[in-house]
Amino acid sequence: MTAQIISGTEVAKQIRAELKQEIADLKEKHNLVPGLATVLVGEDPASQVYVGQKEKTSENLGVYSERHDLPADTSQADLLKLIDKLNKDARIHGILVQLPLPKHLNEEEVLYAIDPKKDVDGFHPVNVGKLMIGEPDYLPCTPHGIQQLLIRSGIQIEGAEVVVVGRSNIVGKPIANILLQKKEGANATVTVCHTRTKDMAFHTKRADILIVAAGKAKAVTADMVKDGVVVIDVGVNQIGTTADGKRILSGDVDFDGVKEKAKAITPVPGGVGPMTITMLMMNTVRAAKVAAGLA
Ligand SMILES: NC(=O)c1ccc[n+]([C@@H]2O[C@H](COP(=O)([O-])OP(=O)(O)OC[C@H]3O[C@@H](n4cnc5c(N)ncnc54)[C@H](OP(=O)(O)O)[C@@H]3O)[C@@H](O)[C@H]2O)c1
Repeated sequence: MTAQIISGTEVAKQIRAELKQEIADLKEKHNLVPGLATVLVGEDPASQVYVGQKEKTSENLGVYSERHDLPADTSQADLLKLIDKLNKDARIHGILVQLPLPKHLNEEEVLYAIDPKKDVDGFHPVNVGKLMIGEPDYLPCTPHGIQQLLIRSGIQIEGAEVVVVGRSNIVGKPIANILLQKKEGANATVTVCHTRTKDMAFHTKRADILIVAAGKAKAVTADMVKDGVVVIDVGVNQIGTTADGKRILSGDVDFDGVKEKAKAITPVPGGVGPMTITMLMMNTVRAAKVAAGLA
């Protein structure tokens, strides 16, 4: 069997088209323009690329976007002052602080300072807690993107054995929580594996849906999955550089081997990646609607 390729690029395009229409309608009917502020401290090249992509996507969709580039030696107090200002700014519905922050800054304190209603990343403990009890205002972007990829690819989630490899706060734990909810697009039986799991292959071989977010290139190989599995590969690992200096990327799954057994699989790049920013836009639109009493 050769797997169906689940294209995040295509699904993201579909969702962005829907969002663009919704944003145009909000403007026309309610004079409401969703606003996103991005905050970047320092000059980390990867972070600059990510913030640039968020800005560009905002502009393409009609989201008002405001970028705050702060020097690497910004103090905690100054950063908190900016967050406070953005919390009070009515044009801004979503605030995104690009991580990681420089080492001298207290990341936790900064994220906790964001008004939970503007926490479009879904990392504030209020939003983490709300997700846990099944009443989320915002789902964190990457796991939400994974759920949308599954739903929109027609994958049966209800009753499925889902195995998640990885238990980070930004991917592993929230996706496990999302798919565990007693809700449509969820209702799965979820197992979470990590570095202390005794026999990972025992679990991965049982998976109907296998979600891998380990951050280790090709950690999951064909002998670790069953025929007909659906694989979502979250990993992005640089495994080399081309002659002309481009990064060679690999997921956490050995794509070439696993695709011969899987029913469906996401590629890297072009799988989960394009979904993350799209879901950030979805959260920003939701934040604007909530602020205006429309949701
Ligand atoms: N496409 C996107 O938009 C997107 C977004 C976020 C992340 N990512 C990518 O997804 C990957 C994971 O990100 P993350 O932030 O969740 O990583 P992370 O914080 O490093 O967490 C990795 C998790 O995987 C577990 N793990 C590592 N190696 C393992 C192994 N060999 N067997 C079993 N478990 C293992 C770790 O276990 P312990 O807890 O025991 O250490 C940890 O829980 C990275 O490649 C990252 O770049 C992509």
